[in-house]
Amino acid sequence: MNIILLGPPGVGKGTQSELLHNELKLLHLSTGDILRDNVKRNTELGKKAKEYMDRGDLVPDELIIDLIRDRISKDDAKSGVMFDGFPRNINQAKALDNMLSDMNTKIDKVINIFADINTLIDRAVGRRLCRGCQKPYHIKNNPPKKENICDECGSELFHRDDDNEETVRNRIAVYTESTEPLVNFYKEQEKLVQIEAKGDVKTVFNNIKNSL
Ligand code: AP5
Repeated sequence: MNIILLGPPGVGKGTQSELLHNELKLLHLSTGDILRDNVKRNTELGKKAKEYMDRGDLVPDELIIDLIRDRISKDDAKSGVMFDGFPRNINQAKALDNMLSDMNTKIDKVINIFADINTLIDRAVGRRLCRGCQKPYHIKNNPPKKENICDECGSELFHRDDDNEETVRNRIAVYTESTEPLVNFYKEQEKLVQIEAKGDVKTVFNNIKNSL
């Protein structure tokens, strides 16, 4: 099974991906996590991507599409992938369809998670991430048991550079212009499921599970 989690910044894609990964054992492929790891390690990709990410703009398609092609050709992607943060525009979606078709597989379901703008800003600005395992927390909604320390691996939490309100607003504007058209793209392919990100993490997770 191959699934796409679609939705604006801060809506809860990473949080739900983690829970779905534990339940369905699909490879969790987050382009945002891969890019942040490259920025941290100061790789060629990281150096090129950083300026776009800091502004909240999309990293150029050719960098992202090559990265995905390489990653889904590996053995651990064979039993299915959960795409989180990819595709981000129609060009990336068409490239993904072509790659999967070359591998005799396809996207089975696209889960579009949505919420109002105030919820998105509150969730993104209040988010903290684990430096070790990338698990997301929220200072109010989903705090760690011990302040600033990950419950799972004990590493320190950090605040993403692009999680300030100004950049989050730009990321939402970029989402509306470039990514939202994918909702109709997948509706026309009859693969779309709509999930409102209302309620706590568990409620949203149960709604997603029931839709699958
Ligand atoms: P990326 O990392 O993909 O960021 P994003 O899409 O902006 O999504 P977020 O990670 O902000 O949010 P999320 O939906 O995962 O929310 P989360 O679960 O953490 O991309 C970053 C950048 O990389 C982009 O701006 C771009 O530059 C580049 N990039 C990435 N992919 C690209 C691509 N394909 N093409 C080009 N460029 C690309 O939850 C948020 C917070 O809310 C957390 O604190 C969480 O604890 C809390 N929360 C979650 N669910 C709930 C709930 N139900 N109730 C209460 N709180 C909740």
